Amino acid sequence: MQVAMESINPPWKLGMQVLLLLLLGCSYIRCEEWCYDKPSCGPQTWYSLGQCNGANQSPINIETRKALPGNHLGPIDFIGYEDRMRPYSLVNNGHSAEVKMKGGAAIFGQGLPGIFYLQSFHFHWGQSNAPGSEHTINGKRYDLELHIVHTKNNMSTEEASKDPDGIAVVAFFLKKNSNAPVMNSWKTLSDLLELIPEKGDSVRLNGEFALGGLLKTVDVNRYYRYHGSLTTPPCSESVIWTIFPDLIEVSPKVVKKFSKSLCFTTKREGRRMQNNYRPLQESRNRKVYWFQE
Ligand SMILES: *[C@@H]1O[C@H](CO)[C@@H](O)[C@H](O)[C@H]1NC(C)=O
Ligand SMILES: [Zn+2]
Repeated sequence: MQVAMESINPPWKLGMQVLLLLLLGCSYIRCEEWCYDKPSCGPQTWYSLGQCNGANQSPINIETRKALPGNHLGPIDFIGYEDRMRPYSLVNNGHSAEVKMKGGAAIFGQGLPGIFYLQSFHFHWGQSNAPGSEHTINGKRYDLELHIVHTKNNMSTEEASKDPDGIAVVAFFLKKNSNAPVMNSWKTLSDLLELIPEKGDSVRLNGEFALGGLLKTVDVNRYYRYHGSLTTPPCSESVIWTIFPDLIEVSPKVVKKFSKSLCFTTKREGRRMQNNYRPLQESRNRKVYWFQE
């Protein structure tokens, strides 16, 4: 009996199963807890989560001098970005301020393998006088970075993150400038941040601004393209990145609202949502392409 049992389920195998369970369990727990602002859960601890230890991680520094001509690329069409009824809620998700979008808006263009449907957008920023974009260009970090997330053929984000090119994120940089003309959409959006101070807070949107209004000053016919990952756990290497170098200039007040209005958790705990960007990852000679119409 003993012998038979052992031959089916030897002790080392049971040990392995227990170990595997522990590892999985730990990583699930850690998944819930990853953060930006504490050594115990900050970006240096993410390597064990999902693909955060992979070879094609984001963000990276873009060296413009090394970018290859993107002859396979074309201008990007943005469909439905101007619709003010499409943004439907603004959420403090504990890592960023995120705007969720009603379905139907999309991007497509030469170089994108399919139609990519808009799901949501969010931001990364620094603190008072420290910039907080995720990508840098020739080593320069900008004040704030906007990420607009799309999935191929309207897959769920979870499904899309298993597809090597399931997600298309388009990124824009903000630069504060006290002489910048007022951009109403940015003012409206940044004022709304005061309504979502704590993790889990959200406000319903009702036509206050259109995503296109945030982007109207940008020349979208010039961009960088590379293949990388989500910049938050599970860091899935399924992202086609499009980075627009043309800066969106806004009043310093707009940038300040981001770094002053939100907390990572509760106001009581007092962890201000600041510096919510992942450190640069190695580009390991990945190809970065440059498109200009
Ligand atoms: C995309 O999926 C969402 C939710 O699954 C759905 O509400 C929306 O209508 C879909 N959009 C399109 C264009 O199929
Ligand atoms: Zn992001």
